[in-house]
Amino acid sequence: MLYTPTPDSLYHPPSTHIDPLGYGKVAIVTGCASGIGLSVTQLLLSHQFSVCGLDISEFDYNLLRVEDHGRFHFHRGDLTEPGVPEDGVRISRQSFGGRIDVLINVAGILDNFSSADGITPEIWSKVLATNLTVPVMMMRSVLPYMKERKEGVIINVASTAATSGAVAGIAYTASKHGLLGATKNVAWRFRNEGIRCNAVLPGAIDTSIGKTIATASGKNGLDPEAYALVEPVHALQALPSDSTPTITPLEVAKTIIFLVSDQARTINGVSLPVDKAWGVV
Ligand SMILES: NC(=O)c1ccc[n+]([C@@H]2O[C@H](COP(=O)([O-])OP(=O)(O)OC[C@H]3O[C@@H](n4cnc5c(N)ncnc54)[C@H](O)[C@@H]3O)[C@@H](O)[C@H]2O)c1
Repeated sequence: MLYTPTPDSLYHPPSTHIDPLGYGKVAIVTGCASGIGLSVTQLLLSHQFSVCGLDISEFDYNLLRVEDHGRFHFHRGDLTEPGVPEDGVRISRQSFGGRIDVLINVAGILDNFSSADGITPEIWSKVLATNLTVPVMMMRSVLPYMKERKEGVIINVASTAATSGAVAGIAYTASKHGLLGATKNVAWRFRNEGIRCNAVLPGAIDTSIGKTIATASGKNGLDPEAYALVEPVHALQALPSDSTPTITPLEVAKTIIFLVSDQARTINGVSLPVDKAWGVV
């Protein structure tokens, strides 16, 4: 029956809409608690994916639609700790019936802009561990299940700093360059096993990291000499007389969803800038 016989109350038709992009599929998102990872999580859920979100920070469920809560599982942990990436994958499989269709590696941290003459071993290790080792360990953990089913999509969130030497410190720059290498290696190695692996290269995005960069000048702990050389390059992306990044996390998330979708079925091993041409400088 199309209409209620007594239309004096709100009628909710039974929902029969199925979104072929995500219905019945499972995605793992690292760094899901804020910024780009949160946007990706919200967008995947809106496309009916089940999502296992991993983050070192607490997750605010108020940022998800109530109707999506049943398809979301959050696991809190420091992904740089041994065994935590593997735990995340195990927990996702336990929560959502074993399959893993998609991995989105978003979790990452900024460095303090320091250069080769000032980088401390602590900052180098932490940035490389978070931005490079964690994504590789996550890929290592999901690949057996993707290979088994002969399908899977991996997206690594790199940065303009993955191809430029002029927008961040040495640790962040090296970690994101490394992530591109890992992306290409996985794309080529598993191309005949139904697995695609691509990277996105966001420019300055309006998130906590983006705001840190935009307002970094004079901050404690930052290398002022190195930052003075990076700042003019960042200014090229900001609007005149405004240092706020102009690209939103949702815009990055939409690009990621495109790469996840079948519309990108032949796209494998690419590094796709999301930067309004900043990367061509
Ligand atoms: N914002 C930008 O301007 C920008 C530009 C280019 C690339 N990126 C990349 O985008 C990704 C997301 O950054 P964002 O801007 O959304 O920043 P964000 O700080 O809002 O999000 C990063 C998330 O990763 C989590 N995380 C950090 N270390 C972790 C760890 N050890 N274990 C588990 N979770 C951890 C944080 O808790 C946070 O929720 C990062 O990889 C970053 O390098 C950001």
